[in-house]
Amino acid sequence: MSKRSIDALEGFVVITGASSGIGLELARRAGEDGVSLLLVADRDLSEGEAAAKAAGAKEVETLVCNLATDAGVEQVVAAIGSRPVSALFANAGQGLGHAFLEQDWEEARKVIDTNVVGTAHLIHAVGRQMRARDEGRILVTGSIAGHMPGSFQLVYNSTKAFINNFCIGLANELKETNVVVTCLEPGPTDTEFFERAGLMDTNAGQSDKADPVKVAHDGYKAMLAGDDDIVSGFMNKVQAVFGDILPNDMVAQMHRKFAKPKHGGS
Ligand SMILES: NC(=O)c1ccc[n+]([C@@H]2O[C@H](COP(=O)([O-])OP(=O)(O)OC[C@H]3O[C@@H](n4cnc5c(N)ncnc54)[C@H](OP(=O)(O)O)[C@@H]3O)[C@@H](O)[C@H]2O)c1
Repeated sequence: MSKRSIDALEGFVVITGASSGIGLELARRAGEDGVSLLLVADRDLSEGEAAAKAAGAKEVETLVCNLATDAGVEQVVAAIGSRPVSALFANAGQGLGHAFLEQDWEEARKVIDTNVVGTAHLIHAVGRQMRARDEGRILVTGSIAGHMPGSFQLVYNSTKAFINNFCIGLANELKETNVVVTCLEPGPTDTEFFERAGLMDTNAGQSDKADPVKVAHDGYKAMLAGDDDIVSGFMNKVQAVFGDILPNDMVAQMHRKFAKPKHGGS
């Protein structure tokens, strides 16, 4: 059952991964609600800051830190201070293509540390604050990849399986409170994600992709509505369902065709 639906966000909002892609569009959308924003990423956030301000944000602060580390998450918590967070968008994440045993372990580990450890750590800190006030909303960017054993993007898909399940379970743990947890599950989206993950020489990298504006708006709307989860896009809904019901080895084989590099080995 959906929790209380609201028309707009108010107050102080934190968005991670707001330097580009879906997070930048979430910042722009939150700006339209006139909130105060803390935008977080590991590089220059001036584009996200300008977009949120132009959209109408009351105030925009930025924080550059590495959310793959405890120190980075603690910097975000310190920047929040005693301010009540009305909404957290835990969106920062990264992919990594190629066969698992060909990947550099430190790069693979950074994907796990960012997508799983850093995300859960930040939600733990901010979620406790929300539970104590008995109000707040958390939108986490999972992925339809979490429904698929992801050959040739294995670590990434596995992190998103964690995130998708984690969000639905956390929403259930908090169902008797006024804290909303929503999981946004996009499919392939036209951001810097594929280039940064080394996936351009794959069917995944060359596939048709969704507009990050639409994806961000779908997630934002679901969070305002108090929904537990939203798969953005009709065909992605179909793929998520098939990912759940087809035999795992069949899905892994389909993912192999999607994510295996076309040239130059694995
Ligand atoms: N694009 C897709 O097809 C797709 C599909 C499903 C789900 N998603 C998810 O959507 C979310 C946003 O990705 P996107 O597609 O918008 O890609 P993007 O344009 O590459 O944006 C990723 C954002 O996450 C930030 N980030 C990554 N690692 C970080 C770290 N260790 N510390 C701090 N910030 C970090 C990046 O900041 P820096 O630039 O500072 O690194 C950037 O702001 C991710 O969680 C991704 O897994 C994407």
